[in-house]
Order: sequence, then structure tokens, then C-alpha cells
Amino acid sequence: MVTAALPYANGTVHIGHLLEYLQADFYTRFLKLLGKDARYICASDMHGTPIEIKAKAQNQSPLAFATKYSKEQQADLALFEINFDNFSNTHIKENQYLAIHFFQTLKAKGLIYLKETQQMYDEEAQQFLPDRFVKGTCPKCQTADQYGDVCESCGATYNTTDLINPISALTRTTPVMRSSNHYFFRLSNFQKQLQDWLNNSNNALQSEVKNFVQNWINQGLQDWCISRDAPYFGFEIPGSEREAGNIKYFYVWLDAPIGYISSTQDFCQNTLHSLTTSWKDYWSKEDSHVQHFIGKDIMYFHLLFWPAILIAMDIPLPTITVHGFITVDGKKMSKSRGTFFTAREFYELYGNSGLRFYFAKHLDRSVTDINLDFHDFAAVTNNVLVANPGNFCYRTLSFVAKRYPQGLPEPILDAQSKDLVQKVRGEIEKVTAAYANQNTKAAVNHLLKISDLGNVYFQNLEPWAKRETSEAEEILVHSLSVMVNLARNISILIKPILPEFSAKIEKCFGPQDQLANDSKGLLWHNLSFSWSGVVKTPQRLVEKIEITQTKSNSVAKESQSVTSEVDTSNFPADLRVGEIFHVEDHPDADKLFVMQVNLGDQIGKRQIVAGLKDAFTKEQLLHKKALFVVNLESAVIRGVESSGMTLVAQESKDRYNLLWVDENLELGTAALFETVTKISKELNFKTFTKFKLKVESNTIRWKNHILTISGNKLQVPGIKDGAKIR
Ligand code: 2FM
Ligand code: ZN
Repeated sequence: MVTAALPYANGTVHIGHLLEYLQADFYTRFLKLLGKDARYICASDMHGTPIEIKAKAQNQSPLAFATKYSKEQQADLALFEINFDNFSNTHIKENQYLAIHFFQTLKAKGLIYLKETQQMYDEEAQQFLPDRFVKGTCPKCQTADQYGDVCESCGATYNTTDLINPISALTRTTPVMRSSNHYFFRLSNFQKQLQDWLNNSNNALQSEVKNFVQNWINQGLQDWCISRDAPYFGFEIPGSEREAGNIKYFYVWLDAPIGYISSTQDFCQNTLHSLTTSWKDYWSKEDSHVQHFIGKDIMYFHLLFWPAILIAMDIPLPTITVHGFITVDGKKMSKSRGTFFTAREFYELYGNSGLRFYFAKHLDRSVTDINLDFHDFAAVTNNVLVANPGNFCYRTLSFVAKRYPQGLPEPILDAQSKDLVQKVRGEIEKVTAAYANQNTKAAVNHLLKISDLGNVYFQNLEPWAKRETSEAEEILVHSLSVMVNLARNISILIKPILPEFSAKIEKCFGPQDQLANDSKGLLWHNLSFSWSGVVKTPQRLVEKIEITQTKSNSVAKESQSVTSEVDTSNFPADLRVGEIFHVEDHPDADKLFVMQVNLGDQIGKRQIVAGLKDAFTKEQLLHKKALFVVNLESAVIRGVESSGMTLVAQESKDRYNLLWVDENLELGTAALFETVTKISKELNFKTFTKFKLKVESNTIRWKNHILTISGNKLQVPGIKDGAKIR
């Protein structure tokens, strides 16, 4: 069971949303192609105050308002070929039933209690002010103008009453406090179980995510208020009027994740039409598995509240993959800058293949933001997608369709094609592993290697040149059959990302394709070099795009001015643990070493040129673990490529220390400034030097933030206070 976060039914889907729906779509399609019973479900998140407020502003009932958006969301997501097995909404009966069932079960277990609380009350509007009706300064990171339940800047969640300088969003007056009884879930009881879950390496959590959650656990978990006062669009809590004094509603974040389950149930009943299959078959059978995809802004809900509830309900825990945000030309999308695109607007300009491919090419299971740069987008579409796999498949298939209407035999491999096939098989394995690891970036890279090999082979073959002997013609026929098999394999490998592209290729083979007799079309087990048969003329597979629209022109102009600006409220460098496994002298510079550094499976091995020769011997560096910046733009330093940088502490003009870290830390572990780390996709060196880091009390500080690793302060004993990190 694969899920993407349930979109609030109060706005139009934009290209930022698409990243996640596509990430989950790529993954589910891949699982299906492997032949697994994988399902992708989603739903509209119907409840909560923003919907209540917006519906009011439009003079509509919240249900009518949310239903309209839910329909629109589904239509817009469909434009991008996002293939949900079910898309329901959180206002359905099943969800109400399950929310109440969860509530009552947890209450019976003593995990929910009533407590008198002080709530914000707007005397002018004469009502309580839940979450979003109040705005103020975040109590954790002091960012102004945040909502009453969650900070959009640091991701912290808190009680509305913790906000600094609160203001009513209804009347702009300062609210007063009134007492009201509310239901609380004993999150604090789950400290140990959540810690155990975090420590369990089977949870497949990204290291950055672990770090965040560890910090939250270290700070101590507070019980969680799960009810709201009227007016609130949500499910009434049965018995609340009697128990609490007035009617309470479930807080939207209680019934929203339960929506994952009710959508599963809705799917079993209304799509499978099964009387015997239920949500439990997908959620709590021994061979079932749930995979959530979420954005980094809702980690708190999915990595603390939701697992605690599932533990309490005896439901196995899911795996959770977190992605970063989409920026356009390095900045948050913005309507005023013309960089905000709804999904539909984007589709009307560029179709869907380009964006599907672009996102796939950038998604690598890291929490880093992904930048949509329009020039890069055009280059990737035109010079990579169209020019490489597009071109190879199209010219191979159209050539064969035209010249060999009688068909081609199964290839007999000569030495050259044996070599090709062997290389391709190696790449196919890597593509498969990359998809399984949700790293479509790596999958695309290996896939491009395959189409590169194909293009070179085709070029060298010169199939258009006339063959003088029948023997030569016979060899050509077999070589061409290798090419057709290759195109057929590419269409399978690219299918999770570009289903339309693949469908067009599969049409060339038609129902006569000997090896694929499945109505689902070609599957992973159809990857082979033993196809033979007739090829029909292909349609055009992908179109080039042209960036000429006004909206994107403003994007282009914008991009020139943003590169020099530095956002100093966030720390942009991606710092990771790496191990130096080889050091040699730079061939062309006295003070430089060329080091090979292993940064773990996700990042891999890097070559880094460093000016450390005055301060260290090779032996002092070799086999040590230290911190490295891994998102710097690569540079060529005196003729040697360098992809990253080591951090050193400089105590005085010629006293340096490397930032050695604990031997036991896993390679690739991220070091973060708690709450302020917003890693850039690619950082330039000059920008990095603007961030002044220094040592204080054996820790590394930036402004007043302390560098942490795996949830603990990173200790750098023996380095003097004030030493600069560079
Ligand atoms: O942040 C959001 O957009 C929420 N509507 C996501 C809910 S995900 C799940 F918990 F339902
Ligand atoms: Zn904050």
C-alpha cells in the first residue's frame, strides 16, 4: 500500500504538490511492473479551519466547498498520469466510523483523557479560535505570522496558546483566554516505543529524518490535543457534549491519516467489490507493507503522532519517505514573481512527460529541495529525454518498421553485440535496484547509459549503408534485432516514469509480441534479448518544448538576480560523515592533496581536492572519518576535479584541526543545525563562505545554533573556543 499525503480540499493542485504524487506514482508503477499487488491510494483532506474559513468567505457550506476542490484535484492530478487505485475523501462514512473506532479504542486503553485548557477566544466574534484562526510568532524559532498549530518555517507544532503576540484572524483583535475541556492523547507514553522504532534500522528512515525526530524525542514529547471547539468542519466526537460540556470535533490531524486507512477500505469495497478483503489485508497482514510519501513540513505528524497511534492500535508501522520542496529558480514559488504554476497551467504549457522526467531525474531519496530551473527543464527535456532515449527508440523502430516489414529474427550475438548486451544487463540491474531504493535519479542515469550505448551502436552500425554481400546483410539483421530488443527493454525500464512513452513503443510490437501476453503490457520479467517479430511504425514518442510563455520569461529574468542573494536565515550546506580512503599528492600543486572519500551508499564516493598538506601527513588523514560539504558545485582545481570539501577548524594562522567524528557513525550521516537547516541543491563556494561557523564549548555554532548529528550535539573536544570553521 503506497500513499501520498492527502491534499487539503481548499486549493488548486500546483507543481509543488506534483513532486510527491509523482514520486509515489513512480514507485507504485515500478512495484506493479514487478508483478506485486501494489496499490496507490490517496484522498482529499476535507476538514479543518482553513476550509471552514474559506467556505465562509465564499458563502458556501464547507462540504460543498471541499467537494468542489476534491473533484478539481482529481481531474488535475489525472493530467499528469498519476495512477491512483483509489482517491476518496476524509469526510466519507468509513472515515467517520474508523476515527470514532480509533478514538474509543484508545480511550478504553486509557490513552485519551480530558483536561481543562485555556483557549483563545475572540470576544468580538464570540467564538473560540482554533489553530488557523489565530496567527502569531512561532515560540520555537520566533518566525512571525505563523498559524496556531504549526510553524511553516521550522516545522514545529505547538498549542495555539504558546504563540507569541497572538492575533485573531477573524477580527484582527487580540484574543482573550477562556477555559474549555479538551481531549488529549498520551503521546508522552510512547517516548520509548518511538525511540525503539527510530533505532530500528528496518524502518528505512533517511538519516536527516532520523535526526529531526531524534531531536524532537530528546526535547520530550507532550501529550497531544485531539479535539477542537465549534465552529469546526470535522466529525463530532460522540459523548463530548456530556463529558466535556459542549460539542467537540476531532482535530483534522486525527482523522486525516486515518483517511489513508478508510481510503483503503473504500477501495476494497468499491473497486475490488470484495466482501472478504478489507483494509487489514493491506495494513496488518504478515506480507503486507505500507509506504507513506510525505513532505518535510508534515514530519511531526507522520513520525510521532501517527506511529504512536498505530502502535496503540496494534497496527504494524509503515515506512515513510520524506521529500523536500520545489523551488523555482532557487526560491519559493511566488505568484507575484510569476513563478507559481498550477498543475493545469503547467500541463497546458508543457504537457506532462517533461515534468515527470525532470522530477524523476532529480529525486534521490534525499530531503533536499528540488529546484525547477526553466532553462534546465528545457535542456533536460530537449537534450536528454528527446535526444537520448527518445531519439534512440524512435530511429531504431522507425528504421526497422520501414526496411523490414517482414520482421526480424531473434538476435544471434556476435562479439560486439555480446559485449553490448553484457553492459546493458549490468545497467538493467542497477536501474532495478535504484527504483527499488526509490532513487529515480540513479535509475534515470543508468537508463541513459543504456540509451547512450544504443545510440553509439546504431551510429557505428550505419544500417542505412548498403551491404555488399548477403552475409553482411545477415549480420546487419541480427544487429538490428539487438537494437529493437534494446528499445523494447528501454520502454519497460522507463515505464514507471513515462507510461505514455512506453505505451507508444509497445504499440509497435502489438499483440503479436511473443514474449508478452499480459493485458498489462510489458512487465519487468519481459526484459530480454530474445524478442523476434514485426515492428510497426512508431508515433512520435516525445515532443521538444519551447520556453516562450510570458510567465516563464519572468522566471528567466528573475533567475539572473537571485543567484547573488543569500538567505542567511537557513543553513544551506549539506554536511555528511565521510571516510578518507585514499590520499595522494596533487600532481600539479605543492600544498594540495587529492583525497578519495566514501560518503556511504546514498552519496557514494567522491574525489576532493584539499589544501591540507601543510598541516597533515597522508597517514594522519587516511582511514579517518570527518565532516564534508557534499552539495558544493564541482570545481576543477589545477586540473583535478573536486566534488566537495572538508571542514577544518582554524585555531590560529597555522593551526588547523580536522573535524574528526566518532568512528561508529554511519557513512553519509547528516550533521544539521537543528530547525534551521534548509539544504540547497547545489551550493556555490562563495555563498558558503558567507556562513561563519565557529567553535564554542567544544561544539560547532552558527549564530546561536549548535551543530547536531544523529540527534546529539557534535562534540569537537580539544579545539579552542573561537576557532573558525572553514
Ligand atoms: O499537509 C497537508 O496538506 C495535509 N492535508 C496532509 C494530510 S496527510 C494525512 F495525514 F492525511
Ligand atoms: Zn518556527
